[in-house]
Amino acid sequence: MATLIDKRPATIDVASLVEPDRTHRSIYTDPAIFDLEMDRIWHRTWIYVGHESQVKEPGEYYATTIGRQPVLLTRSSDGKFYVLHNRCAHKGALLVGDHCGKAKELRCSYHGWRFDFDGKLLGIPLEHGYDDTRFDRTGPEADMPRVRAESYRGFVFASLNPDVPDLKSWLGGVASSIDNMVDRAPEGALEVAGGVMRYEHDSNWKFFIENLNDMMHPMVTHQSSSLTARVVAKKELPPDAPVPSAIEIIAPFTESYSFFDDMGVHAFDYGHGYSGGKTSIHAKYSDIPEYNRRMDAAYGTERVAEIMKVNRHNTIFYPSATIKGAVQTMRVVRPVAVDKTIIESWTFRLKGAPDEMLQRSILYCNLINSSANLVGPDDQENYRRQQVGLHSTGEDWVTMHRDFGKDEEIEPGHFYARGSSDISFRNQYRAWKKYMTEGARQDVR
Ligand code: FES
Ligand SMILES: [Fe+2]
Repeated sequence: MATLIDKRPATIDVASLVEPDRTHRSIYTDPAIFDLEMDRIWHRTWIYVGHESQVKEPGEYYATTIGRQPVLLTRSSDGKFYVLHNRCAHKGALLVGDHCGKAKELRCSYHGWRFDFDGKLLGIPLEHGYDDTRFDRTGPEADMPRVRAESYRGFVFASLNPDVPDLKSWLGGVASSIDNMVDRAPEGALEVAGGVMRYEHDSNWKFFIENLNDMMHPMVTHQSSSLTARVVAKKELPPDAPVPSAIEIIAPFTESYSFFDDMGVHAFDYGHGYSGGKTSIHAKYSDIPEYNRRMDAAYGTERVAEIMKVNRHNTIFYPSATIKGAVQTMRVVRPVAVDKTIIESWTFRLKGAPDEMLQRSILYCNLINSSANLVGPDDQENYRRQQVGLHSTGEDWVTMHRDFGKDEEIEPGHFYARGSSDISFRNQYRAWKKYMTEGARQDVR
């Protein structure tokens, strides 16, 4: 198990950069703050790695990163998944250089050291050269080190910090968003479908995470795309014609302020949260009768009604992952630099559901989450403008005052506010400040 040693002196007074209702512009623009975020947030808490269905069979692997560190999700012949440091035990070369695949063993491209999928060393060319040396071929320094990893209903998170709380406790109130996404499958399981859309934003990672539950933006930011969809639907379609799925998906982005207010925002410890609940912009999609039939057969009508009445919009597992359970899509955050972020967009198949459900998820990803779609680039342009605008010394502080002091504590650690509140940002920065000043210990909430 790797341990993290943060040797960086605390030369920046990070605590002074976040106040309960505002943030200092330097947290988005200063490369030194970005370095600290990698050490104190991304290398100290649970980070989403991948889904178990990406490594179904022994020998399958998926390469990604935790903050700045390369890691591998693997499936071993013992049937278990592992998260390993993607680093050769010989001279440190990246062991796997592509994103995913299947192999008999992991063989380093440099000098041919071989490893099993649980990280154990299998062999070294001319191994006897290490006889009578300090190097212990059976000791941990000969293996690919394991990273602490846990799965919650198929979603694998890992942490470089062995002292984080268990994953379920850390997920807290947002674990139920994963539950609801999985419960929407007639067979009670999800699998990643197809590949991934992966693209780079010229902006800080926090803009993306803030924006997902910013419900004062859709009706403005997405006006050109969403209102156009409404106009096209009204002018071009005969009055009785069924509404095309694309219009059903795009049009709700310009719902009224009161609609988004009623969706509401929930905020939890560790910066997690979700918008919607009783309703969301996904609530009025057309029925797919075969899906309803299979769900009823699997769970009974009463249980299906319970599952379907949970209508969340975006759920954030701060800082690295977000899901839309109602459309079975996920976006994953991979920070690269203070002004560069990779966003991955994944689509899931509900096991046992008819193909129309997956087709709708793919359509959603293409229309909203992909890099060349009708909605997402509106957001990306705003993130870029923030990244540039916050270099201005005209004002140091970014306001998060809307409805400050009006959050309602529904139960301990679970806060609620109307959709137009800035509660989601304030909650994320409450966690950010804790992580940045105290690390992700048990008592950090
Ligand atoms: S660095 Fe991997 S075998 Fe030498
Ligand atoms: Fe948006």
